[in-house]
Amino acid sequence: MAVGVFDSGLGGLTVYEALNKRLPDVPFVYFGDNAHAPYGVRDADDVYKLTTSAVEKLWDAGCDLVILACNTASAAALKRMQEEFLPADKRVLGVFVPLIEALTERQWGDNSPPREVAVKHVALFATPATVSSRAFQRELAFRAIGVDVEAQACGGIVDAIEDGDMILADALVRSHVDALKRKMPSPDAAILGCTHYPIMEKEFQDALGRDVKVFSQANLVAESLADYLTRRPEMIGKGAQNRFLTTGDPEKVSRNATQFLKRKTVFEQV
Ligand code: DGL
Repeated sequence: MAVGVFDSGLGGLTVYEALNKRLPDVPFVYFGDNAHAPYGVRDADDVYKLTTSAVEKLWDAGCDLVILACNTASAAALKRMQEEFLPADKRVLGVFVPLIEALTERQWGDNSPPREVAVKHVALFATPATVSSRAFQRELAFRAIGVDVEAQACGGIVDAIEDGDMILADALVRSHVDALKRKMPSPDAAILGCTHYPIMEKEFQDALGRDVKVFSQANLVAESLADYLTRRPEMIGKGAQNRFLTTGDPEKVSRNATQFLKRKTVFEQV
């Protein structure tokens, strides 16, 4: 048994990396559904079907607990999975809540009524599917009042990263930040609401300017998982080593993953 980490493609590696650093003794099985990425341009039903089929493969690989290291799947499929799909002995956790708790200065599981927080103008960068789900705004409204959110659906960035075309990814980041700034000239915080985007975090920060605090998820999710596992240690199990699975071309995926993680990373095809 190990802990599963799922993403549509390479983006979840940003979360995997933080998990592996924070919890070096926990074996992780990473699953990238690269053959079907990007998810961000698909409808909710499609994202649900692809995500549940990937999660079943992670169960087959010995994971009782799976982290959806994908905002699009967390936004479009997690609630329905919890209602219709999960057997009693399995758990699936999303990446949204830890980020929103950090933004709204809350401890894990603090369910007190919404209140005023320091940030007032928040820029959300996410995939078209995550933006249209409005899941981020819904979770935020449970915890904070008086926060103005401007969302930018960032078409194209995930495709460019999956293709390893970082010049195009850079140009797209700049043009999406420009588009956002036309709608909200001075955000005080920015959310990188797609796990692929931390690969371009420097480019986002440069385009946004030094005064904008950029929130990304990897470390927040790692802290939250560490906390969860102290409460539910039986979900860790005895798995031996980290594995990387892909539905895509294992050579191409391994090459791009090795470039992002800056060490040799070999994917097996499933
Ligand atoms: N990395 C994913 C996310 O966090 C999905 C991107 C995509 O496949 O469009 O939203």
